[in-house]
Amino acid sequence: MRVLVTGGAGYIGSHTLIELLAADHAPLVVDNFANSSPVALERVAQLTNRVFDHVEASITDTAAIRQVCDEFQPEAVIHFAGLKAVGESGQSPLTYYSTNVGGTIELLKAMDGCGCRRMIFSSSATVYGVADYLPFDEKHPLNPVNPYGRTKFFIEEIIRDWAATDPEKSAMLLRYFNPVGAHQSGRIGEDPNGIPDNLMPYIAQVAVGKRDQLTVFGDDYDTPDGTGVRDYIHVNDLASGHLAALDYAARHAGVEAVNLGTGKGHSVLEVIAAFEQAAGRPIPYTVGPRRPGDIASSHATAARAASLLGWQAGISLEQMCEDTWRWQSRNPEGYSD
Ligand code: NAD
Ligand code: WQD
Repeated sequence: MRVLVTGGAGYIGSHTLIELLAADHAPLVVDNFANSSPVALERVAQLTNRVFDHVEASITDTAAIRQVCDEFQPEAVIHFAGLKAVGESGQSPLTYYSTNVGGTIELLKAMDGCGCRRMIFSSSATVYGVADYLPFDEKHPLNPVNPYGRTKFFIEEIIRDWAATDPEKSAMLLRYFNPVGAHQSGRIGEDPNGIPDNLMPYIAQVAVGKRDQLTVFGDDYDTPDGTGVRDYIHVNDLASGHLAALDYAARHAGVEAVNLGTGKGHSVLEVIAAFEQAAGRPIPYTVGPRRPGDIASSHATAARAASLLGWQAGISLEQMCEDTWRWQSRNPEGYSD
């Protein structure tokens, strides 16, 4: 299938490209490299021994995105492109709304212009907000607590309205839990700009000596060891989930929201211990105050992904840490090495 991959140079996009190429799909990447490097695309091509094109453009550039769609005639779009830093979204909400929401609207218009009726969208478990109950199933009320999360919520609604205009349109709203890990080659992985916001890349930078120690954000939560519990999912599992979603969308019209998680939660202390084991070195940490906006626990029920897509995540926390460490230790400066 010809698949337009927005944000394909990014962390999840680059891993998904490998799966797409392995399954003989024909991807075209659109990325403005706002949070990624063209080197990631070069490495995907090397790893797969396949050639594919990319266009450097923003999804907010109406003319550029229309031209890409008109020329490439995608049969489906996997839409990763967007801004994702929760804290920054509070400082610059309008930038988040114009890139994430505005960019998606331009993309959907361009898809209509070229007759493309399949959309696979990167949503987030953050749309659920504070848990009324756990695990989160797809029927849990949506109550995102920050502008980033609200962009995902609004985009989901916009895509539902878009899909309702044509009985043959299909859309998958994939709600990712906490993606971590890296490709087993150690050649591609997560390369955050500046100080990492997220736990796993922060731990990895402590392990490699780029940062002195981790701060554990609170150990007084109502969880077994007092630290926050999350559903970490290996990025390769997530990538294969996109292939399953693409396959489903090709066979079914309509809109489906689907959690992509493992269904299992791990605490911050468990992740530290697993990483220490994988890297064979200690991860110094101190316990600090809770991070504002954090919830105690978040994990998915993965039942709908299993029944609808025939997909489930299988990669262990140990493997997530080993693969993260291989990537980090071989590329201490990420793609700028
Ligand atoms: P990422 O930042 O690595 O990838 C996003 C890509 O989009 C980058 O390559 C970036 O350069 C590109 N991009 C940003 N703005 C763009 C624009 N205006 N036009 C074209 N390209 C643009 O992030 P990721 O972790 O790979 O996340 C991919 C998607 O998944 C995002 O939509 C994110 O919100 C969502 N998501 C991520 C997580 C996570 O924890 N990583 C969790 C849930 C959902
Ligand atoms: C995990 C746990 C922290 C850093 C975020 C976004 C969410 C989604 C995924 C995109 C928590 C603790 C963290 C640190 C710590 N992204 N922690 N010290 O907060 O579950 O989700 O990324 O959609 O929208 O909010 O992930 O990795 O930041 O935190 O103790 O230096 O690690 O308190 O318990 P989170 P995270």
